[in-house]
Amino acid sequence: MDARFSIAATGSLSFGAGVFDDLASHLAKLGYHTVALVASKTFLQGSRCSAFLQQCKDCEVSVLTYPVSGEPSVGSIDELSHSCLSDGCDVVVGVGGGSALDSAKAVAVMAKYLARTTERISVKRFLEGVGDLTPPPGRLPLFAVPTTAGTGSEATKNAVIAQVGPNGFKKSLRHDSYIPDLVVVDPSLAITVPQTVTAASALDALTQLLEAYVSVKSNTFIDSLALEAIALVGNALPKLLEGNLDDLDARSDMAYAAYISGVAIANAGLGYVHGFAGPIGGLHSIPHGVICGNLIVPIHKAMVLAAKEHGQDSSFLQKLTKIAALWHVDGPEGVIEHMAQMVRLAKLPPLRDYGFTKEELVAIGSKDASRNSPVKLTQEQTISLLEALL
Ligand SMILES: [Fe+2]
Repeated sequence: MDARFSIAATGSLSFGAGVFDDLASHLAKLGYHTVALVASKTFLQGSRCSAFLQQCKDCEVSVLTYPVSGEPSVGSIDELSHSCLSDGCDVVVGVGGGSALDSAKAVAVMAKYLARTTERISVKRFLEGVGDLTPPPGRLPLFAVPTTAGTGSEATKNAVIAQVGPNGFKKSLRHDSYIPDLVVVDPSLAITVPQTVTAASALDALTQLLEAYVSVKSNTFIDSLALEAIALVGNALPKLLEGNLDDLDARSDMAYAAYISGVAIANAGLGYVHGFAGPIGGLHSIPHGVICGNLIVPIHKAMVLAAKEHGQDSSFLQKLTKIAALWHVDGPEGVIEHMAQMVRLAKLPPLRDYGFTKEELVAIGSKDASRNSPVKLTQEQTISLLEALL
């Protein structure tokens, strides 16, 4: 047992097929009058959104819709935050994938902050590594409804915001108070999510679970949650990607695993894959899950080889052996091969399809992206791993 550890609180959770249908009456019972619905365009165009809008109307709750397309940028967050403020919204509801939920989180923070100042301050000034101001504590009330089973943003205390281009970045707006108040995980919302989004989102969730589980910052509490969720992914994801996208049990397992991935990274941090995903995603417009799916196997294969060179008794190898038992495969190598099989089923585009060059990847690979990884790779290894992605 760990000598000591602490766990950041998560918001309330409502889980199960159909729970989204209770949200409108819940908002009314809590006394909210004007909802900022920050949601993916796909959700806003669907029948579940129409039903939600009608339910809110029946409960005399107004809803203003703020469509999100693409990953959140400094410009999109500044624009949505000013709209939310001028529209007088008293609660933010985020519905969609990680982009919608991160946008909702950032809008809830910035709309509250901008109400207290006459200056037009950009969210960029609060971002880790690029901003000059401390993120403000507090935000508007925030409810998160994930639909894609991916980033786990519904359970984390940060929103990742990008500025894409030669001097681009992907940085977090982060504070302990940004974890959503209520998470509504309704796996039936994911039934219509297409194969490409399902695959990329799931590989992000799996990467997050694995990196948090083996992290040097993990602890007994997170280990037990993450290991069970990893077991679920190993069974459910192949089912979905083999053509059973309407399998509600598999969707439920993935929705639960994605939520736990958010809880896990909020408490145990991340490793190499996400260390590289930040600069890669800041350089060209590429879905975060596609980066994770391209990196998860080569990075962890190299980590297994490096750990074995230093002896068989590392906690990293022991943890992979526990995963192997739950996935019914043979040891750490079996885990790598099962992940490779899931990545093959995902049919992800390679990085070259997004315009990356060898020089760009060599520059990224030469930086230390180890974060909380239990195994350190050499600079030569990381550069050659990234070059091989082209
Ligand atoms: Fe991620």
